[in-house]
Amino acid sequence: MSTPSELLDQIGDIGTDHGRGGYSRHVFQPVELELREWFTAAATERGLTVSGDHNGNLWAWWGEPGPNALVTGSHLDSVPGGGAFDGPLGVASALAAVDELRASGFTPNRPLALVVFAEEEGGRFGVPCLGSRLLTGSIDADHARRLRDPDGVSLAEAAAYAGLDPAALGADERLLGNLGCFIELHVEQGRGLIDQSAAVGVASSILAHGRWRFRFTGEGNHAGATLLEDRKDPMLPAARFVLAAREAARAVPGARATVGRIVPNPGGTNVIASSADVWLDARASTAEDTRAMLAEIEAAAADAATSEGCTLNVSEESYSDTVYFDTGVRDELVRTLGDVPVLPTGAGHDAGILAARIPTGMLFVRNPTGISHAPEEFAERDDCTAGARALATVLREQAGG
Ligand code: GLV
Ligand code: MN
Ligand code: MN
Ligand code: MN
Repeated sequence: MSTPSELLDQIGDIGTDHGRGGYSRHVFQPVELELREWFTAAATERGLTVSGDHNGNLWAWWGEPGPNALVTGSHLDSVPGGGAFDGPLGVASALAAVDELRASGFTPNRPLALVVFAEEEGGRFGVPCLGSRLLTGSIDADHARRLRDPDGVSLAEAAAYAGLDPAALGADERLLGNLGCFIELHVEQGRGLIDQSAAVGVASSILAHGRWRFRFTGEGNHAGATLLEDRKDPMLPAARFVLAAREAARAVPGARATVGRIVPNPGGTNVIASSADVWLDARASTAEDTRAMLAEIEAAAADAATSEGCTLNVSEESYSDTVYFDTGVRDELVRTLGDVPVLPTGAGHDAGILAARIPTGMLFVRNPTGISHAPEEFAERDDCTAGARALATVLREQAGG
């Protein structure tokens, strides 16, 4: 029998990012394939039957796959230089919950599966929750196949490298039809549980959120030989864009706008870039607020481009509407766990994608640093154990034996 922390310790050396700190674990790359092997071995040891689906998600079944399955799990990929808990805690807790259930002699009265979703962070191909979007058909498979990573490798090529058939990527109604309920456990990514002095909580909703690429195109030239007034430097509207995004977010209560990635092309210290790609992550309570904020930012970006002699092209890379988790599942989680906080989150999750198709809920485990998507993300061992116990209690309740 293992605790979630002991399981996380087993993968503590896989994907360490010595340059950035933390972990860089990206879908279908050797590090992530090694994590999949770890999960497959850990689940098999526990008597579960592991199979991959058409979209690179892994499923570990307790008993035969079948209708009305109760599913729990999360993801093993990370953002660049991410923490140890975002994703893996949900997977480790699922394995630990199985240990606890087995030790108590429990046998589920409905199919039970653990899942590892692929590319939740969009850290390689830019679209978050790619595995669950493909499974549910909420992204077009042809479009997905053509997504490219920063090295120009397409999703189709990467999937083939991982042993998948790229032609088979896409909605899997047969598998989906067997899923009855999904419960994802996740480290909390804000301060909600710290403020309420609670180890475990239940999610109520996820902000509307999306990602957009703004491409400013100017004119490449020499950094020394080109007079300031003769330049079309796309980094100037890019710089103004970062400030405009913050101003637009400030005008909408509860909204957030982030620029975490800028890539000048070709990228040389003594080169005026010919173009600059700037990625915007924007989130707000409602679709209307998110779209209104985006419209402000787009207008500011267009002005900034024009005034610097540049052009602008905007493309939406992903968008997810506000998610309100199934109130039946949420109330059941609260009833089962007793007096636990119910809180919203600003982070996206595969649970948010699944929620459009099946009753879905989430459990959060306190993060004492309040920091996530960074190496400082943390969860105390006792809180992780409390989370896995809560998950086991919920699974026992929902799968009745
Ligand atoms: C994923 O963690 C996201 O919300 O960005
Ligand atoms: Mn994340
Ligand atoms: Mn996550
Ligand atoms: Mn996430």
